[in-house]
Amino acid sequence: MRACNLVALFVYCIWKICKLVQACLRRLRVHGKVPAADPEAPLAKVKKPEAACTAPVRQTTFHIDDLPRKFSYDEIRAVTGDFGTMVGRGGSAEVFRGLLDDGTAVAVKRITSYKPVGEEDFLREISIVANVHQRSLVRLLGYCLLQGRPGDTHGQYLVYPFFENGSLDWWLFNGEERRRLLPWPTRRRIAVDVARALAYLHHECRRQILHLDIKPANILLDGSFLAHVSDFGISMSIAQDLTSVDTCGRGTPGYMAPEIWFSSLSTKSDVYSYGMTVLELVGGRRGYQASRDSSETPDFLARVVREKMVRGELKDVVDAAMAPVDEREVEAVLKVALCCVQHQRELRPSMVTVVDMLEGRVTADLPP
Ligand SMILES: Nc1ncnc2c1ncn2[C@@H]1O[C@H](COP(=O)(O)OP(=O)(O)OP(=O)(O)O)[C@@H](O)[C@H]1O
Ligand SMILES: [Mg+2]
Repeated sequence: MRACNLVALFVYCIWKICKLVQACLRRLRVHGKVPAADPEAPLAKVKKPEAACTAPVRQTTFHIDDLPRKFSYDEIRAVTGDFGTMVGRGGSAEVFRGLLDDGTAVAVKRITSYKPVGEEDFLREISIVANVHQRSLVRLLGYCLLQGRPGDTHGQYLVYPFFENGSLDWWLFNGEERRRLLPWPTRRRIAVDVARALAYLHHECRRQILHLDIKPANILLDGSFLAHVSDFGISMSIAQDLTSVDTCGRGTPGYMAPEIWFSSLSTKSDVYSYGMTVLELVGGRRGYQASRDSSETPDFLARVVREKMVRGELKDVVDAAMAPVDEREVEAVLKVALCCVQHQRELRPSMVTVVDMLEGRVTADLPP
């Protein structure tokens, strides 16, 4: 028996090493040459060769349809009152409140991790993101690109609608008072709307889009606490590189699928992040904080929820601030989340199946 285990372990190690070598070779191939533009490739991002980041931008003549409104830098300054009200700051951007001439409230995102990028690539990606229309996806209203201004470190701005209730993380992780304002029906609706938005990006767009950074900070809430998924595609690719395919190591720790480190990404990586987000939404607590306790792994919350569920102690992992809850509904949603965070990505459901599970058309069983 022990010999059998050893053989199985040996075969597993060999298989793992082969996968790693394959991934490295694939990466080397991608880095060795500029990938040909593949119109059918998912809108995920591959690192371009270093030369592409440092070489001066080539002026090309091109035409891209369906771009959103182009703002001049002076217009951006006027809209934001000279960047007077900052509403948030992320790893790669600062966000300012603004007002358009017609009275529309907007959020202007100033990309801070600036790397010169090709104007054509930038605009092409902008046009793809701007033309995705779904109720729960944040629309891109406009952009400003200060390409080629020497010494300018803040060359890219994105203009979005303003969401008055900010991001979901602000409500979930800042005390019980705020969490009480998110009762169960509101949270359930957020889970369903985000799932539908992702299913749309993955399966209904002409060109498949991977989000790659699903987390409560990227779910914005309007005045009625309806969810709007932000930051799909564009801001991450600006922060890293544009038009990519090899997407190794993207996202935010705690929400990233385990395969993100050693293989190419797929829609199932978003499914994992979605599952983690739902566990936090129902639990009203962060699933994982890298610095808190070194014994905690990113799937800590998932393991705790699963154990409690098996023991019939669900109450311990459900945010008491949203009481009263429909326990059967909560249990069903948690089962879906646990299906989504399975380590083997083949076992995770697609986002379309997730929507079917949440809406009761498909049964979600507790994964092993
Ligand atoms: N359209 C918007 N309306 C209102 N507030 C917004 C809007 N967009 C962003 N914010 C606020 O600005 C904060 C920072 O957003 P940003 O996307 O730059 O960072 P992040 O999502 O927290 O992290 P990162 O994108 O670096 O992973 C958000 O958490 C949110 O509070
Ligand atoms: Mg964000």
